[in-house]
Amino acid sequence: MTLNIAVLVSGRGSNLQSIIDNIENGYIKDAAIRVVVSDKEDAYALERARNHGINAEFVDPSAFSDKDQYESRILEILDGYDVELLLLAGYMRLLGGGIVRHFKNRIINIHPALLPSFKGLHAQKQALEHGVKVAGCTVHFVDEDMDSGPIILQKCVPVLDDDTEDSLAERILREEHRIYPEAVKLYAEGRLDIKGRIVSIS
Ligand code: GAR
Repeated sequence: MTLNIAVLVSGRGSNLQSIIDNIENGYIKDAAIRVVVSDKEDAYALERARNHGINAEFVDPSAFSDKDQYESRILEILDGYDVELLLLAGYMRLLGGGIVRHFKNRIINIHPALLPSFKGLHAQKQALEHGVKVAGCTVHFVDEDMDSGPIILQKCVPVLDDDTEDSLAERILREEHRIYPEAVKLYAEGRLDIKGRIVSIS
């Protein structure tokens, strides 16, 4: 059986690319990205998807009267592809309760910080301004709060004295591209067990 995956994106799509590449090279088995949905029309992620023959759709949030209506349209698209696992890859919106409940324990996000530190936007800038000596990234299940669901994998990187937001973001991103495919592989192989906040890997 092939696991049907959808990916929500807003921008560049380098994490999407790492998932695509790791499905194509066989690291993630028995899984396929059925559709990529963006809330930004010019997201390069849409082009990356199309370059690999993956359906890519822009859904304009401003075309809907409220967030519920907008997310109902997204749900309709996902259900049309029988999506079983929803990945957020640089999707810069907080998901509403409707989608989160529909895909309970089946939504995964990557965040460029060692959660629960530095939730929300500009996580790398928050880390630099706080003066932490290690930073990193987190792959986690999504619940109804922001960047707060059960943690699957984390990876640290050092913060160097001369780091800028860009240099730190780049160092973290290299690790994102490793742990996100690894987490998807673990999910696809049925090796993640969630009890409360705790994810065990078998
Ligand atoms: C990544 O660093 C991702 O962790 C971050 O946005 C970037 C997207 O890059 N996500 C968040 O900050 C979510 N809160 P990409 O479009 O190249 O994958």
